[in-house]
Amino acid sequence: MSENSPPVVEKIKSRVDELYPEIVEIRREIHRHPELSFQEFRTTALIRDYLLKLGLKIEHDFLETGVVALLEGNGRKSDAGLVALRADIDALPLQEENSHGFCSVEKGIMHACGHDMHTAIILGAAAILAEIKHELAGDVLFIFQPAEEKAPGGAKPLIEAGLFNFYQPSAIFGLHCFPYLETGKVAIREGSLMAAADELYITVQGEGGHASAPHKAADPVLAAAHIITSLQHLVSRVASPYEPAVVSISSIKGGNATNIIPGTVSMSGTLRTMNEELRGTMHKRLRQTVEHTARGLGVDAELEIVHGYPVLVNDPATTRRLRMTSIEYLGENNVEECELLMTAEDFSYYLQHCPGSFIQLGTSGKNIERGNTLHSPLFNPGEAAISTGMGVMSYAAWKWLAQ
Ligand code: NI
Repeated sequence: MSENSPPVVEKIKSRVDELYPEIVEIRREIHRHPELSFQEFRTTALIRDYLLKLGLKIEHDFLETGVVALLEGNGRKSDAGLVALRADIDALPLQEENSHGFCSVEKGIMHACGHDMHTAIILGAAAILAEIKHELAGDVLFIFQPAEEKAPGGAKPLIEAGLFNFYQPSAIFGLHCFPYLETGKVAIREGSLMAAADELYITVQGEGGHASAPHKAADPVLAAAHIITSLQHLVSRVASPYEPAVVSISSIKGGNATNIIPGTVSMSGTLRTMNEELRGTMHKRLRQTVEHTARGLGVDAELEIVHGYPVLVNDPATTRRLRMTSIEYLGENNVEECELLMTAEDFSYYLQHCPGSFIQLGTSGKNIERGNTLHSPLFNPGEAAISTGMGVMSYAAWKWLAQ
């Protein structure tokens, strides 16, 4: 602890230490009983009970699962008025392979993305802020969001159900476990942080025939090969070298014999982009490339694009303040610059309505163990990150309202 830390930092730190065992127990309880997207009924009940005991208000049930709760501070004295903290609560369809004492008891379901950690952390922040609510210059909204893992995600329907009609936070903050960073640290980035992720489905329609007489058929396999190759031109010739973009065709199906040219080939893949303008351009050029390449080879092809989450853009001014706040709480050495991430997150939808920032929470030791990564059956985040998360989020909310 530094002698120069503001008194509220010291107060939060000591409450974090006292609450830690209780919050770890909650995290383990959630970890034992993971639930898939939009089926988080048990988790929702646990969150509700905990928040109601703290004296928070649950004014609206926006969706069947998830909880949105309000902590009223000491009157809305500041312009900031209301700040929001968000956690996602769902798990993944994956069989856990860890051997610790709190493994999932649900067959084929696991908290392998750390949403159990996020939920526990934001519950811990609620407990801390409820205790110092008379020192809060505004209110805090806690959003426990279902279904981050499964498109269209929980954020979009939550917003469509009126979240921002009832509440107008001046900032929203969220975090995610980040196994590539040491426990005790956070990583922050202004502007674009995470990619837009769109699913690509391509059907190449030719005309089947004997493989010994390709001139009497229209070969969709050869066309598929050309399409896959041509699509990589978009990354090198349409996207600027200064703008990251990824096109991956990751499955291809067609044919089942050595001597038959099949009638159709189907492929699927993903597009990742870091700005919405490039995303739109890539959609158009993907379609042209697929259709025209096929036509040039005497077959037809169609591209279906299933839109995923938009680009996650951290508001620069809000993020700068959050960085300062995090440095005050954790010290300069524990706040790093975050790299661009090609993964996607539906926190991006909130940021289209409200300025805010999404930060990465270090959960690893110095050397990451094999398999201990997100979406792995061996994911096992360092629980000490719960302290870091609870502390930073509580102090961020307090500070945002105090300014
Ligand atoms: Ni996640």
